[in-house]
Amino acid sequence: MQNSQLPLEAMPKHIAIIMDGNGRWAKAQGKPRVFGHKNGVVAVRESISTAAKLGVKAITLFAFSSENWRRPEEEVGVLMELFITALSTEVTKLHKNNLKLRVIGDISRFSARLQKKIAKAEATTAENTGMVVNVAANYGGKWDIAQAARSVAEKVEQGELCASDISEDVLAKHMMMSDLPEVDLLIRTSGECRISNFLLWQIAYAEIYFTPTYWPDFKEESLIEAVTWFINRERRFGCTGEQIKALLEK
Ligand code: IPE
Ligand code: IPE
Ligand code: MG
Repeated sequence: MQNSQLPLEAMPKHIAIIMDGNGRWAKAQGKPRVFGHKNGVVAVRESISTAAKLGVKAITLFAFSSENWRRPEEEVGVLMELFITALSTEVTKLHKNNLKLRVIGDISRFSARLQKKIAKAEATTAENTGMVVNVAANYGGKWDIAQAARSVAEKVEQGELCASDISEDVLAKHMMMSDLPEVDLLIRTSGECRISNFLLWQIAYAEIYFTPTYWPDFKEESLIEAVTWFINRERRFGCTGEQIKALLEK
């Protein structure tokens, strides 16, 4: 099969990633955990640009879970600072590349300063028409289902809906990212094989790819490997990594 024959519909439309293993990556080099988080930002950048080049419609990155508040205060503080810095430095690049940034999760728990940065970053890129980059921050899959249920209940209270109208479709419309294609490929790095309360509803039919690679080591090649696995997993085309790489060069 020729490179040009690799049909675009074979590509995952929506990739979600549990970016795990920063702490172990740093520890393996005798460095503090936060060194891993800083290097994790480089991997974020690379995954976004690779996914965009591959023609993926949306990428969703798990940056901070609703459970991560349990970490030592100092580590949480560094993560928040990193988030603020990355929002400032990366948004310009995202905007230049026509990418749309969205933050999903309960951001009301973040500092006013961070909430403001998030709102500004989202507004700056709101009209862009390229790939959507969702950053899941203070996100929990259970929280997402609960907030959707609350929104639906409010509509019932206001008489806009009857309880008997509530269906999977109605709930789906109130979940985060309801306007985006379904997640078809979920990746978790660092060898752990669990969901850790990331997307629940949205991964009902996703292919799930676990790799032992620690997040800061997850390079363009690694994403290509995952996408190749996905396409062959679908048993649609039996393509090779080289064919996917060729797409990047086009
Ligand atoms: C993932 O790496 C980043 C966040 C959860 C913010 P970890 O910090 O969980 O790294 P490990 O799993 O301890 O190695
Ligand atoms: C999941 O990783 C959260 C993020 C990647 C942001 P964790 O490292 O927090 O998950 P557990 O605690 O190992 O399940
Ligand atoms: Mg971890």
